[in-house]
Amino acid sequence: MTFSRSSMLALAATALVTGASAQLKVCTNNSTLSCQSSSQAPTCCYNYPGGALLQTQFWDTNPSTGPTDSWTIHGLWPDNCDGTYQSSCDSTRAYTNISDILTAQGRNDLLTYMQQYWVDINGDDETFWAHEWGKHAATPTTPPQEEVGDFFQKVVDLFKGLDTYKALAAAGITPDSSKTYSLSDIQAALSNLHGGASVYIGCSSGSLNQVWYFYNVAGNAIDGQYQAVDTLTKSNCPNTGIQYAPK
Ligand SMILES: *[C@@H]1O[C@H](CO)[C@@H](O)[C@H](O)[C@H]1NC(C)=O
Ligand SMILES: *[C@@H]1O[C@H](CO)[C@@H](O)[C@H](O)[C@H]1NC(C)=O
Ligand SMILES: *[C@@H]1O[C@H](CO)[C@@H](O)[C@H](O)[C@H]1NC(C)=O
Repeated sequence: MTFSRSSMLALAATALVTGASAQLKVCTNNSTLSCQSSSQAPTCCYNYPGGALLQTQFWDTNPSTGPTDSWTIHGLWPDNCDGTYQSSCDSTRAYTNISDILTAQGRNDLLTYMQQYWVDINGDDETFWAHEWGKHAATPTTPPQEEVGDFFQKVVDLFKGLDTYKALAAAGITPDSSKTYSLSDIQAALSNLHGGASVYIGCSSGSLNQVWYFYNVAGNAIDGQYQAVDTLTKSNCPNTGIQYAPK
């Protein structure tokens, strides 16, 4: 993966399924929506400077990954509210044993789901997950490893509410090598899914292959309130003639 997104994600956790006794901070101040102030400090309840959170997805067809009727998860990336972003902030938390951590936390259902829907194009899921964690989520504000499970669960929960395949299909936009689509039709279908906010639509050689759903969040990234916001990044797709290749 070549994407580097950063890190000041506030990840204070309120609940773990492990029964672990770590003293996790509970966010008690959900009042300020991220990206709404230029002079904030990061706290466990306020994501700064990475206040825009992007739930990013892939449609991979060469080679194909994941179910034929679903997009797959890329990650959850903080953006500095303006299209720029930071890189990895905490190398001490760049764990490479994500599966082991999730298993140790008893999150077997989450891991099984990730093995189906959060897959690496080269088949190296473990490295992909470690990359997504280390670059985009590891933060100094929470106890080592405990927050790993909460992060992956949150990304999966967001993804489950953003069924790109279904939203496009409902608008008659289906993978078909003999059809092409317009950017405005794809945007309309996906904005509809995203509370009316515009969505980043990415193409590779004129073929649809990524979408990013932007949010601001009041509270922390795990249990704060997510609010859909417009994309900060302009589409690189052509206006018309966009392909949507079958897997
Ligand atoms: C913050 O938001 C979370 C998620 O909606 C909620 O569970 C929690 O009670 C809220 N805390 C406060 C202090 O409002
Ligand atoms: C809540 O958090 C915001 C942003 O960090 C801060 O400006 C505000 O003073 C906080 N309010 C309380 C009651 O702590
Ligand atoms: C994961 O790796 C870290 C070192 O990066 C190690 O301290 C920890 O024990 C490992 N966790 C599990 C559950 O294997």
